[in-house]
Amino acid sequence: MSDSVKYLLDETRMPRRWYNLMADLPSPPPPVLHPGTLKPVGPDDLAPLFPMSLILQEVSTEREIDVPEPVRDVYRQWRPSPLFRARRLEEALQTPARIYYKYEGVSPAGSHKPNTAVAQAFYNKEAGIRKIATETGAGQWGSALAFAGALFGIEIMVFMVRVSYDQKPYRRAFMETFGARCIASPSMETRFGQHVLATTPDSTGSLGIAISEAVEVAAGSSDTNYALGSVLNHVLLHQTIIGQEAIAQLEMADDYPDIVVGCTGGGSNFAGIAFPFIGAQLRGGRKVRVVAVEPAACPSLTRGRYAYDFGDTGKMTPLVKMHTLGSAFVPPGFHAGGLRYHGMAPLVSHLKELGLIEAVAPQQTSCFQAGVFFARHEGIVPAPEANHAVKAAIDEAIRCKEEGTSRAILFNLCGHGYFAGKLSDRSYDEAELAMALAGLPSVPAQA
Ligand SMILES: Cc1ncc(COP(=O)(O)O)c(C=O)c1O
Repeated sequence: MSDSVKYLLDETRMPRRWYNLMADLPSPPPPVLHPGTLKPVGPDDLAPLFPMSLILQEVSTEREIDVPEPVRDVYRQWRPSPLFRARRLEEALQTPARIYYKYEGVSPAGSHKPNTAVAQAFYNKEAGIRKIATETGAGQWGSALAFAGALFGIEIMVFMVRVSYDQKPYRRAFMETFGARCIASPSMETRFGQHVLATTPDSTGSLGIAISEAVEVAAGSSDTNYALGSVLNHVLLHQTIIGQEAIAQLEMADDYPDIVVGCTGGGSNFAGIAFPFIGAQLRGGRKVRVVAVEPAACPSLTRGRYAYDFGDTGKMTPLVKMHTLGSAFVPPGFHAGGLRYHGMAPLVSHLKELGLIEAVAPQQTSCFQAGVFFARHEGIVPAPEANHAVKAAIDEAIRCKEEGTSRAILFNLCGHGYFAGKLSDRSYDEAELAMALAGLPSVPAQA
C-alpha cells in the first residue's frame, strides 16, 4: 500500500460516461405519478420544464451514458478531483482505520453541484432554452448553475431560501458575479410566494417553497426551463463521476472501501460517491457498507415515511415515492441549508427500502465539532453539509480503534465552507411533522 496523501488522476483518465444504477438494481423504483391522474408520468408531462435529453436520462436503464464532449471540456477546469488519504486525521484519532476523502470543493463553485449544473446548462442550451429558473438552499446549487449559465449563455434566475439568503449575503454576490439574478424565497415574484407571505410573513423559507416558485416561473414561459440541483435520477446520474474517479484513485492506492459515507440533502452527492460502489457490488463485486448522513433536524430517511409525495410545497410537481417528512414540513433554520429538504431522492429511498444502504441523523453541533477537528488536522474547512459526512466517518474510525480493526473508510467531502456564529442543536416541531405527514397525498397502493 502506498504512503501517498493525494491520489491524482490525469485529465485523460476522467470518466467518459456517467454510471446509471438503474441498470443494476434488483427491482426498479416505483414510477413517478401524475398528480391529477395518478398514472405514471410520460415524457410529454415533463417537457414544459426539462429538455427531452434530460427527460430520457431520467427514465434510462442503460448502464452507461456518454458525457458530451462540451461538458467534458468544462469538467476539465477542475476534474478529476483529488482523492486524499486523511493521514493527519488518522494520526490525531489514533485509529487503525484508513480514511479517504474525495474532495469536490475544488470546483469553481466550491462543491459537487457543478457536475450536474454544467450538464444541465449544456442540454438546455442544445434545446434552445434562453433562461433557467431554479431554487437554492445554502447557495451552492445556485452558484453552480450561475457559473454554468455564464459558460453556456443562459440567463439564470435563482430563488434562494430566505434563511440562507440572510445568513450568506456573499453567496448572492457570487451568483451575481456570474450574471445570475438571486431572489429571497418566499418572494412576491410568484403567486405561490405571495400566498406563503400572506399566511406567514416572516417565513424562513424552505427548499420546497423555493422549488414551487421556480417551477411556477418555468411553467409559465416557453423559453424558460426549470433545473433541480438534486433528487432527480438525471442529477444523481451526473454526480456518479465522483465515485467512478474514486474507484480509479483507490486502485492507485491499492485499496477498496469497506465503508462509503455521504451526507444527504436531496441525495445527489451521496449518490455520486456511493452508486458506482453499490453497482459494482450488485454486479458481484465486493460488499460495501454505505452510510447516508442526514441532519437530526430534517431526518427524512430515518424518521420520514416512505410514501408518494410532492417534491415541492406548492404541490406543483409530479408525485414521487420517497422518504418524506411531508411537503408541508418546514425544517427549522439550521446551518446546513443544503440539507433542509423534506424528501429524499427516490433512488436513494429505494436503496434504503432494499436494505442496500443505512442512514444516521446526528445533531448539528456534533457535526460542527467533527468539522472543526477535521479542519485543524487536514487544513480544509468543510461545508456545513459536508460536516455531517465528516462526523460519520470519524465515528466509524473511532469504532475501528475500539474494535482494533483497520477498515477503509471513504467519504465525500462535497464542498468547502466556513463556520459562522454560535450553533445550538435544533429540533423540529413534532406536531408540525405529524401534521405534514397527515397531509400526504392519498395514492392507491397498486399505483
Ligand atoms: C455542499 C453541499 N453538500 C450537500 C448538499 C446537499 O445536496 P445533495 O444531497 O443533493 O448532495 C448541498 C446542497 O445544497 C450542498 O451545497
